[in-house]
Amino acid sequence: MKTYRTALVPGDGIGKEVIPAATDVLWAAADGFGLEFESFDWGCEYYLRHGRMMPEDGLERLRPFDAIFLGAIGHPSVPDHISLRQLLLRIRFGFDLYVNLRPIEILPGLDPPLKGKSAEHIHMLFVRENTEGEYAGLGGRFKRGTEDEVAIQQAVFTRRGVERVMRYAFGQARRRPARRLASATKSNAMQYSMVLWDEVLQEVGRDFPDVAVASYHVDALAARMVTHPESLDVVVASNLFADILTDLGAALQGSLGLAASANLNPAKRVGPPMFEPVHGSAPDIAGRGISNPIATIWTAALMLEQLGEPAAAARVMNALKAVTAAKRIRTPDLGGNNTTREFAAEVVREL
Ligand code: NAD
Ligand code: IPM
Ligand code: MN
Repeated sequence: MKTYRTALVPGDGIGKEVIPAATDVLWAAADGFGLEFESFDWGCEYYLRHGRMMPEDGLERLRPFDAIFLGAIGHPSVPDHISLRQLLLRIRFGFDLYVNLRPIEILPGLDPPLKGKSAEHIHMLFVRENTEGEYAGLGGRFKRGTEDEVAIQQAVFTRRGVERVMRYAFGQARRRPARRLASATKSNAMQYSMVLWDEVLQEVGRDFPDVAVASYHVDALAARMVTHPESLDVVVASNLFADILTDLGAALQGSLGLAASANLNPAKRVGPPMFEPVHGSAPDIAGRGISNPIATIWTAALMLEQLGEPAAAARVMNALKAVTAAKRIRTPDLGGNNTTREFAAEVVREL
């Protein structure tokens, strides 16, 4: 029997609630294949004990796994630029996971907060560039602490990096009925990086004549997500633009606790793919057991699909949809009174 080995990195805050909840669902969905989990206690508590977010050879320890399932990183006791750089971004960059796939859809029974819009209007798939752009991490500070202090944060856009993520986005658009791709640009103000971005969009588009392409400035695209969400299907955007737009997407779904994501390298295996909800560690509600596990359960389905178990992925999504459609169990972010565990237990029962 095929057995998949998954590295669990629950991380911090509500990561420690949603990962066990989603892992219970994965156990219940596994049929005809095996799952093996190994848990890593890396995160901000680990940092406070060891002075680093993960061991020096952390990536080497993760490399043999089939997948990484991560909760959330970040705690008020550790500066975010240290905790996220040393763990989350290190995995994304270190394993060259250049695609971050983020579906924005409405589950049955969960009404989107936008007036006049229903599930049929909101079904976007964000393809986020995940290994360069505004997150390249190049720069420095000069004359620190003085009145003349300067901070430089360089964005890096490579033709290769832009082309590969766009090619993937076009491929996704081609597989969907609408066959539409929207690109988020800002070439009206950024005359180097975003003009290259637009040029590569045009060039790659020639290989996909069956896909309708639209290019929107990112500010207008943000507005369009609210005013005309039905006009958007697959959206490709740079690292930072897509980061912001997908939190807006989660808000269109009704909660940050609903948005799922997969970090992939569809071209070549440098390390395992990583699966994580879009939301963070939510220190404001952490430890109370009331975080919404839907994003992470949905993420678990994305993981099963990528592992090559589409039937199990469909079982998870169907069970999740049955529970949301019944409207009985809801965590507080969706106006209910139920706990993380109660919601997950209901999905397990459904399975
Ligand atoms: P956040 O996503 O953690 O929280 C924003 C708001 O959404 C909070 O009010 C929170 O309670 C709510 N929320 C988020 N997820 C929820 C869920 N599953 N159920 C119910 N409510 C939920 O963003 P933030 O507050 O900006 O960041 C908190 C920490 O998380 C910071 O350290 C940040 O850097 C980090 N962060 C980590 C990741 C990650 O690890 N992937 C992602 C985003 C933020
Ligand atoms: C996300 C998060 C991360 C990002 C942060 C925590 C570095 O916000 O996955 O959306 O910006 O990529
Ligand atoms: Mn984000």
